[in-house]
Amino acid sequence: MPAASVTPIDLTITPRDRRFGRDQATPRWWHGGNPHASALYNALSATFPVGEAFFVESVRNFRDGADARLAGEIAAFTTQEVIHSREHLAFNRRAIDAGYDLSELDVRVDKRLALLRSKPPIASLAATMALEHFTAILAHELLADPRHLGGADPATADLWRWHASEEIEHKGVAYDTWLHATKGWTRGKRWKVKAKVMMLVTRNFVVDRTAGALELLRQDGITGPKAWAGLLWYMWVRPGMMRKIFAAWVKFFLPGFHPWTEDDRALIADYDATAPDEPFAKKVRRAA
Ligand SMILES: [Fe+2]
Ligand SMILES: [Fe+2]
Repeated sequence: MPAASVTPIDLTITPRDRRFGRDQATPRWWHGGNPHASALYNALSATFPVGEAFFVESVRNFRDGADARLAGEIAAFTTQEVIHSREHLAFNRRAIDAGYDLSELDVRVDKRLALLRSKPPIASLAATMALEHFTAILAHELLADPRHLGGADPATADLWRWHASEEIEHKGVAYDTWLHATKGWTRGKRWKVKAKVMMLVTRNFVVDRTAGALELLRQDGITGPKAWAGLLWYMWVRPGMMRKIFAAWVKFFLPGFHPWTEDDRALIADYDATAPDEPFAKKVRRAA
C-alpha cells in the first residue's frame, strides 16, 4: 500500500532570488574568527553546487506521472536549488580568494556522485531523498539555535539562513517524489531501502565533511589533535550540530515518517521577518 504524503495543503514554496556578499571579500575565518567552524561550513558549501545539481537531476528523472501539485513543487524546488548553487558557487569563489584550495574536496564529491550515477536512477533518488531530509534537519537546527551562526560575518550568516529556510520549505519534495516513484513497492521494501540508504549517506556525509574540513584546516596550518579534536568538539559537543540533530534523524526510521510530520514553517516565517521585503515573481502555491 502506498504511503501518503502529509505535505501541508497550504504549503508555499517561494524561490527567493537573493544575492549575498558580492560587494566585499569574505574573511578567511569568517565564522567569528574560528578556523574549525569556518572549515566545517566551507567544506559543506564546497559540495553544494554539484550536489544540488545532482539532487535536481535525480528528482526530475521521476517527474513523469506526478500530479499537478507534485509537478509544481518539483519546479519550485528546482528553482530554489539552482539559485542556492549560484550563491554557494559565489561563496566558494570568495573562499578561494581568501586562499583556500577546494580541489581535493571537489574530487571527493565527484567520486561519490559518479558512483551513484552508475547505478539505476532510483538509487540517486533514494540518496537525494535521504540527503534532503538530512539537510532539512540541519537547516532546522541552524535556524532554531542562533549559537550556530553566532559571531559570523553578517553577509555570510545571511546566506546560510536564507538557504536553511528554503531547505525547510522544500523538504518534502524529494520525499514525495520518492513515494510517487515507489508507489508499486510494498511498505517493507520501501522501508528497507530507505533505511539502508539513510545509514549509508549519513556515514558518507559525516566522514566526507570531516575529511574536507580537516583538509581546509591543514591549509590553515592546523593539523594533528588540534585540528581533529577542535573539529569534533565543534561538530559534536559545542555548539554540537551533529549531536543536536540526532533525535530528528532517528525519527526517519519510524513507521509513518514524513518530513512534514513536523511542521516547522515558523522558522521560515522568522527568517522572512528579518529578510528584506522583496516581491518574488515565481511564487508557487500548492493547488488546493
Ligand atoms: Fe539547497
Ligand atoms: Fe534541498
